[in-house]
Amino acid sequence: MRRFIVIGHKASTAADFKLDDLAGGAGRLDVLLRCVNSAFFLSHDLRKDVEVILILQGPPSPTRTIRLVGSELRYLNPDERSTGALIRNALMKDTRSEERSTPGIYVSSRSFQDVLGLMEQETELVYLKEDGQDIRLAEIPENVTFVLSDHMDLTPDEESLLLQYQPKVLKLGPVSYHADHCVTIVNNELDRRFI
Ligand SMILES: C[S@@+](CC[C@H](N)C(=O)[O-])C[C@H]1O[C@@H](n2cnc3c(N)ncnc32)[C@H](O)[C@@H]1O
Repeated sequence: MRRFIVIGHKASTAADFKLDDLAGGAGRLDVLLRCVNSAFFLSHDLRKDVEVILILQGPPSPTRTIRLVGSELRYLNPDERSTGALIRNALMKDTRSEERSTPGIYVSSRSFQDVLGLMEQETELVYLKEDGQDIRLAEIPENVTFVLSDHMDLTPDEESLLLQYQPKVLKLGPVSYHADHCVTIVNNELDRRFI
C-alpha cells in the first residue's frame, strides 16, 4: 500500500470555513485537497491501494487528522470543492479517537506524533525533502509511507520527531515542487516500478 501523510500547518481544524475560501479562511486546505486528488485519481479510475492522512494543524483546535482510505472511498470527486465538503463534514464530528465520517473518510484528534507512532512496522517511511537522496537511486518497497509538507517546510520540531523514526530522506528532482505535484511524481515513480 502507498500512504501519503501531509501536514497542513495552517489548515482549519473547525468546520466553519467556506467552500469558496479554501485557500484563505480554510488555511490553505486547497493544497491538501489537491494532494488528495493527486493521490487517488487516475484518468477513469480511483487508486484502491492508496491511503492519505491529512494532519490539520491550524486554528482553532488542537490537531485534527483526516484519513482517507482508497479501498473504501465513495463520493470522492476530482474537484477541490466537493472534497472540501467531505472534510468539512468530517470536522463536524467532535471525537478524539478515530471515527468514520463518510465511507472511506475517518476523523480523529491524533497528532503527527500519534500518527507516526501508529505506523505499522512493515511500512517503510520516506521523508520527501528537497535535499534528500535522489528517489531514482533509492530502493522503495510497495508498502511505503511518504511524509511531506504543505506550502511550508516541516518545522524543526516536526522534522526532528520524524527523523527519530529513521525514514529514508528522498528528493524527487532538482527543484522544489508543489506538494500535490510531489504526490503525482511519487505515484508515477512507483507505477513504473510495480505495475
Ligand atoms: C511547496 S514545498 C514546501 C516549501 C518549499 N520548501 C519552499 O521553499 O517554499 C512542499 C513540500 O513538498 C515536498 N517537496 C517539494 N519539492 C520536493 C523535492 N524536489 N523533493 C522532495 N520533496 C519535495 C517537501 O516535503 C516540501 O516540504
